[in-house]
Amino acid sequence: MSEVDFIYACDASAVPENGALNVNLDGEEITIFHTPDRFIARSGFCKHNGFKLELCEITGDTLTCPLHGWKYSVSTGKGIKPSYTRLETYPIVMRAEQLWVQPVAQKEEDDFDTSAFDW
Ligand code: FES
Repeated sequence: MSEVDFIYACDASAVPENGALNVNLDGEEITIFHTPDRFIARSGFCKHNGFKLELCEITGDTLTCPLHGWKYSVSTGKGIKPSYTRLETYPIVMRAEQLWVQPVAQKEEDDFDTSAFDW
């Protein structure tokens, strides 16, 4: 269990259904997605070149970055195009119609560091 507290992110009503909203919590940019069955918190920027994820297109479970076409699964955070990338996940809870996020990314085993690539 992390020692970092959950921080108030926004009211649940601020995140459009089938949409997303970026919030900055303690310097951590996080995108909150509102899927048909839950809220999901992921890293706030595209892994390719840092486009804000709240401005990307969401079609079903697919998040598409308009700049160069990278795609991600909203539900898993895994890259679709390319498949080796992944959006980090943050713990999120809803309390009295408010969303609270723990701004510490949960590391996944297959995280892939793309920072060494020359795009
Ligand atoms: S910044 Fe998202 S695909 Fe390039």
